[in-house]
Amino acid sequence: MKNRNLVSINDFTKEEQLQVLKLAEEFEKNPTQSLLEKYVIATLFFEPSTRTRLSFESAVSRLGGKIVGFTDSASSSVKKGESLKDTIKTVANYSDLIVMRHPMEGSARWASEVSNVPIINAGDGANQHPTQTLLDMYTIKQTQGTLDNLNIVFVGDLKYGRTVHSLTIALCNFNCTFHLVSPPELKLPSSVKIHIKDKNLKYYQYTDLNEIINDADILYMTRIQRERFSDPIEYEKVKNSYILKNDMLDNTRDNLKILHPLPRVNEINEDVDDNHKAHYFQQALNGVYVREALLALILGVK
Ligand code: CP
Repeated sequence: MKNRNLVSINDFTKEEQLQVLKLAEEFEKNPTQSLLEKYVIATLFFEPSTRTRLSFESAVSRLGGKIVGFTDSASSSVKKGESLKDTIKTVANYSDLIVMRHPMEGSARWASEVSNVPIINAGDGANQHPTQTLLDMYTIKQTQGTLDNLNIVFVGDLKYGRTVHSLTIALCNFNCTFHLVSPPELKLPSSVKIHIKDKNLKYYQYTDLNEIINDADILYMTRIQRERFSDPIEYEKVKNSYILKNDMLDNTRDNLKILHPLPRVNEINEDVDDNHKAHYFQQALNGVYVREALLALILGVK
């Protein structure tokens, strides 16, 4: 994986994805190692982030590397009208790898085409979030002991939720069954469903979470992505479509784990946090180990 880009989850084969997860297990046991002392990593966040940026920066710090970058493009020369191409070509001169989040779908692919250092996509608009996918896979494997043959229930904004898009594509390699719970306006895009069909796997669509919650192995809640709506009235109509409450978990499977890429708004009540089936904060922690593994593999130190 040395010097490779990670723009789409399909940039890595199933075997390569599993290699990342295996190395992440090693970093979970021993997260602080002097592997990246010679390396400078750039984090360019054109959109807000807490977990992705800070877990990448934590991963770099734990491995002894240095970080440059910005958390708000308004503090960079983008504000003066600099193009994405010129920004990437410049930052590639100052760093060995660029982690980028950008609101425009396809921006990470474009960046990878003009950069002479590897690009890791930390989320490009409503398209994909492949490093989140790897940490989601890590968490699913950690909690279920396998990635194969699971009942995955996705809930919420399946149209704009990029984490759902890339995780669905990845889990198509593991014979999972997909249960898609969303308002009619926020269904999973056909461009993602086609991956399920291509593998002859099954998906079912619902508007009522109660129809399927008791059959879930993984309940993957998502936020309605307000920032992707062009009309605020449309957002208001769907914003509280699903709110998971503790008593809704009474008859769920013993092995069920509740995941959420976070941040949450209202879609999981705080009374769920103490339920042993809630796993979303551990999921966020796993982001450090998975991103350590990715950096080590792409920079060729592992
Ligand atoms: N899961 C995720 O991408 O969170 P942030 O937006 O806080 O990075």
